[in-house]
Amino acid sequence: MSKYIIEGGNRLEGIIEVQGAKNAVLPIFAACVLTDEEIRISNVPDLADVVSMENILKELGVTIKKNGRERILQAKDMISDEIPSELAKELRSSVFLLGSVLGRMKKATVAYPGGCDIGLRPIDIHIKGLRDMNVVVEEKSGYLYCDGSKMIGQEVCLDYPSVGATENVMLAAVLSTGETVICNAAREPEIIDLQRFLTAMGAKVRGAGTSRIFIEGVAKLHGCDFTVMPDRICMGTWVLATALCGGETVLKGGRKSEIHSLCCKLDKSSCHIKEENGIIVIKAEQGGRNPERVTTQPYPGFPTDLQAQFCAYAALSRGTCVVTETIFENRFRHVPELQKMGADITVEGRVAVIRGMPYLTGAEVTARDLRGGAALMLAGLAAQGKTVVCDIKHIDRGYEHPEETLKNVGAKIIRV
Ligand code: UD1
Repeated sequence: MSKYIIEGGNRLEGIIEVQGAKNAVLPIFAACVLTDEEIRISNVPDLADVVSMENILKELGVTIKKNGRERILQAKDMISDEIPSELAKELRSSVFLLGSVLGRMKKATVAYPGGCDIGLRPIDIHIKGLRDMNVVVEEKSGYLYCDGSKMIGQEVCLDYPSVGATENVMLAAVLSTGETVICNAAREPEIIDLQRFLTAMGAKVRGAGTSRIFIEGVAKLHGCDFTVMPDRICMGTWVLATALCGGETVLKGGRKSEIHSLCCKLDKSSCHIKEENGIIVIKAEQGGRNPERVTTQPYPGFPTDLQAQFCAYAALSRGTCVVTETIFENRFRHVPELQKMGADITVEGRVAVIRGMPYLTGAEVTARDLRGGAALMLAGLAAQGKTVVCDIKHIDRGYEHPEETLKNVGAKIIRV
C-alpha cells in the first residue's frame, strides 16, 4: 500500500495546472453510450475513478483509445446492458450508467454502487426519478433491474437536489419521447458541463445551473469533440494548501466563481485571491483568522468535498470555527487523524468544533476517504517535522499525481 512521506514547513511558490474535473468526466463518460458514433474527450484526468469507469464501459462493449489526456470512446456495438457488480462496487458513479444504458438499450441492470465510505449514500432519489418517467425498477438480491421500454418524458421532482440523481435523469431523458422537466435539480457546475456535452451530441437540454432543467427527447444523438471543465474541488484544495503553508501560487485553468463559497471563508487579511486573465493568483501568510462557522450545502453553498481540507486549514488558523456537515452523515473520519497531529477538534454528530493551534506536529496518519486523505496531505505540508500518510489509494481516486503538483511548488513530498 503506497504512502506519502512529507517533510512539512515549506512555503508554496509556483504554478499549478488545475486538472480536469473528476465529477464532470464520470457522467460524461457514462453519456458516451448514448450514441454509436465516436466521441473525443480532452482534459481527462488520470485518476483511479476514471480507470474504474473505463473498465465498466469496456465490459459493456465500448472501445476506448487513450492518448495522454485525450480519449476516443465509441459504443458502436453494446454487448451488455448489465453493469458488472465487482466493478460497480469500486465506483459509486457507476450508477449514472443506469440512466444512459436505459436511454440506449431501454433496459439496464446494475448492482448497488460502491464508492467512498462517507455514509449511507442511498440511491432512492435516482430510482424515484426513473420511476416517475415510467421506468419499471425491481430490486432483487443487491441488483436493480430496470425496464425502460415504456419510458417517457415527465415532470420529475427530486426530494433533494442530488447531483447524481439529476445527472441520471438527464441521461435517461435525452433519448426518451416527450419533455422531461427536473424540478429541484442540483445546480453544481458539473451539471452545466454535462448539459454542454449532451448538447454537443445533439440533445435538447436547457436550464442546467438552475433548479429546473428541461430536456426534450430526440430520436438520435451523434459523436462530438469535448473538453472537460477544470476541477473546482482540486482548485479549492490548492487554494487551501497555499493558505495553510503560506506562499504564492498561480492556478491555471480554474474559475474563481466556482469556489466563491470557499474564498468567502478565508481571512482576507492573510490570504489574497485574485483572478486575472484566466489565472488565479493566491498570496497567503500562515495563521489567518478562522471564520466563526462553515456549513456544507449544495452548490453554490460551501462544498462538502472541501470540508475535510478546510478542517486542516482551520486547525492551524487563529480562533474557533464550527464546521457543520449537512450532506453526508459520516464525513469526519479525518478528525481522529488530524488529532494525532495535535489538532484541537471535538466532534459531536455532524458538528466539529475546531480551535486553531499555532502549529501541528508531523505524525503517522491514515487516509480513510478521498477528501479526508487530501486534508491529511495538506496538514502534513504545513506541520512541523515528518508526516506519513498511509493508504493514499483514496487520494488517487480524485487527484492526479498530487505529489508532482506539490513538488513543483516547493513541497517536500514523496510517494513510497
Ligand atoms: C456527488 C459528487 C460528490 C459530492 C456530492 C455532493 C460525483 C461523482 N460525486 O455525489 O463528490 O460529495 O455530489 O456534492 O459527482 N442521497 C439520497 N438518495 C439518493 C441520492 C442521494 O439520500 O438517491 C443523499 C446522499 O446520501 C447524500 C446527499 O443526498 O447524503 C447528496 O448526495 P448526491 O448529491 O447525490 O451526491 P453524489 O451524486 O453521490
